[in-house]
Amino acid sequence: MLDCIIERTNKYIDSMPKKERKKYGQFFTSKDTARYMAGLYHIPVNQAEVSILDAGTGTGILSCAFIEKLEQIDSIQKIKLTCYENDGNIWNLLRANLQICQEKSKKDIQIQIITDNYITSQYLDFNCMIGGNPNPEKYDFVIGNPPYENGIDS
Ligand SMILES: C[S@@+](CC[C@H](N)C(=O)[O-])C[C@H]1O[C@@H](n2cnc3c(N)ncnc32)[C@H](O)[C@@H]1O
Repeated sequence: MLDCIIERTNKYIDSMPKKERKKYGQFFTSKDTARYMAGLYHIPVNQAEVSILDAGTGTGILSCAFIEKLEQIDSIQKIKLTCYENDGNIWNLLRANLQICQEKSKKDIQIQIITDNYITSQYLDFNCMIGGNPNPEKYDFVIGNPPYENGIDS
């Protein structure tokens, strides 16, 4: 799975000017680093369902590496993946890549792509302010090579 997503990411890099990608701090994790990062997580045995947050998903490299790791764990049946990505140039590729993961996986993978700014969409919740969600979504695992921008869309 990951090999395929890396290949598609390389094509995207070739087709999208660096100036555009830089606006979003868009630099992608290498295959080896993604696998190394996914390998660092301890997944409790006998866990049937796992929720993951990937904030600043890009083309889905880290999500895919994490899913590949979960593939090896028999107890896991369901994976709920939440992805934040606010660059519209990459949404179609991200959707297509995650669909590949879904199709190739033995697990039931539920994917939610949130096309919003992760940082600015969270501040009411984080600061427990009026208007914020008193019960914000929580995740079992968070993986990320996160947004480097201050989050102000322009
Ligand atoms: C450093 S790249 C890493 C991409 C991917 N996680 C990886 O490791 O290959 C960060 C990604 O987050 C997106 N991004 C940047 N700022 C963001 C924000 N405030 N909210 C959501 N996504 C953001 C960028 O468009 C980019 O795709």
